[in-house]
Amino acid sequence: MAEYDVIVIGAGPGGYVCAIRCGQLGLKVACVEGRETLGGTCLNIGCIPSKALLHASELYHAAGHDFAKMGLKVADPGFDWAGVQAYKQSTVDGNTKGIEFLFKKNKVDWLKGWGTITAPGEVKVGEEVHRAKAIVIATGSEPSALKGVEVDEEVVVTSTGALALGAVPKRLAVIGAGVIGLELGSVYARLGSEVTVVEFLDQITPGMDLEVCKALQKTLAKQGLTFILGAAVQGATKGEGGVTVDYKLRKDDSAGSVEADVVLVATGRRPYVAGLGLEGVGVELTERGQVRTDAHWRTSVPGIYAIGDAIAGPMLAHKAEDEGMAVAETIAGRHGHVNYGVIPGVIYTSPEVASVGKTEESLKAAGRAYTVGRFPFMGNARAKSYLMGDGFVKMLADKETDRILGCHIIGPQAGELIAEVCVAMEFGASAEDVARTCHAHPTCSEAVREAALACGDGAIHA
Ligand code: FAD
Ligand code: NAI
Repeated sequence: MAEYDVIVIGAGPGGYVCAIRCGQLGLKVACVEGRETLGGTCLNIGCIPSKALLHASELYHAAGHDFAKMGLKVADPGFDWAGVQAYKQSTVDGNTKGIEFLFKKNKVDWLKGWGTITAPGEVKVGEEVHRAKAIVIATGSEPSALKGVEVDEEVVVTSTGALALGAVPKRLAVIGAGVIGLELGSVYARLGSEVTVVEFLDQITPGMDLEVCKALQKTLAKQGLTFILGAAVQGATKGEGGVTVDYKLRKDDSAGSVEADVVLVATGRRPYVAGLGLEGVGVELTERGQVRTDAHWRTSVPGIYAIGDAIAGPMLAHKAEDEGMAVAETIAGRHGHVNYGVIPGVIYTSPEVASVGKTEESLKAAGRAYTVGRFPFMGNARAKSYLMGDGFVKMLADKETDRILGCHIIGPQAGELIAEVCVAMEFGASAEDVARTCHAHPTCSEAVREAALACGDGAIHA
């Protein structure tokens, strides 16, 4: 007889949400987590601490740069790094403890320790073997290694070390102009570091709408970040005066280097399945090391499911959460569903960048006829009052049916604004549906409506 209906391995956003949902659906559930605290990468060393540092550094920067423009006087803004770190940690602690409370509330047993699947329906934690009808792998991801660059988490760091540096470095080199590089690069640039970002490709944030990429790069360059694009990093060497990052420009093979006090390696993440015993039970991996799943998150072994960063798809907390809920519903005999076409992506720089659905480049490549509705935040009263008139909303709609295919925003509160478009897309709305919906004035959300209007007869304030 199984002790549990479900054992979830990993208590990140995928695993903890799955476990809570299982509890809510009346399943007897346990969640195995080896970390001291619940919440996984996201709450402990990812989304939450990075957003805390982004928030604090944004306010500090505003105090030094924008307050005077609004007639506000603050004498000599400064920061106490230990205090900033303590604020970050208290934000993390509040959230991880919150998950413990939710586990108790929803009768989820936390099995403390590292889990190994010893057989289908069997998970070993420490010396104890627990049995369950279903097992969900939600073990997340870890930073990818980069050849020639040895991480010590002190001067050559991944995001984990970068969130907890002993001091703000004078010079920070970032390898990789993806989400982590730009968010953490922004934090340290605002706090006074000279930040140089070395990127392999010829553009930053690959996969994002190109118009938005270009606008973001321009904005970040204005904020003091230096970009070296099309550069293949050859290695990082520690010396007396810091670390030297050597690269070769891909266009002509010419060599260059960046001197830094700290180097952040942010070249992507890979699924974490070490020690899980997958080989022993026959759970297949893809050629990219992800746990192979079908459309219902079933692995190659009956009764074993997988979700989140450990499987294919964008490595995002909300994608993991949605899969967590859906797999719980599937195991409970319901119909779990995730709409992979409507998963927003947000970069929490200033201004924020948010995106959902198709990019213009992908529509062109697919030969699909579309209309573009653009609206600049310069025409939005609320954004201008925030001194954030740069940026725009770009909506893409099907030329024939007007159905919204994608939306890309760079501007104030972009991460909040995109939610409206996600709901619209989930309901198969047309741009006209959004355009005909009354939006409160003055709000930044009016810019989304104006972009929708621009897909039709035209925006009013542009
Ligand atoms: P994880 O959160 O990685 O959790 C997996 C858990 O499983 C871990 O706690 C691990 O200890 C545990 N585990 C692993 N193996 C075992 C085992 N054998 N036994 C027991 N426990 C085990 N995403 C966003 O959407 N928004 C953001 O703003 C954002 N910011 C980020 C910032 C940074 C710096 C980083 C690194 C990531 C960020 N992400 C963000 C990505 C996000 O953190 C991940 O997509 C998300 O955490 C994936 O959730 P998960 O549940 O799949 O795995
Ligand atoms: P990423 O995949 O976003 O970016 C990695 C970048 O490194 C790419 O631009 C890539 O071209 C570049 N790169 C790869 N190899 C390189 C090399 N040898 N030299 C120079 N550049 C190289 O990965 P990142 O930033 O590490 O983030 C990992 C994951 O965490 C992402 O999948 C992301 O979804 C998630 N995340 C999400 C956040 C959010 O939603 N706001 C915030 C932070 C992370």
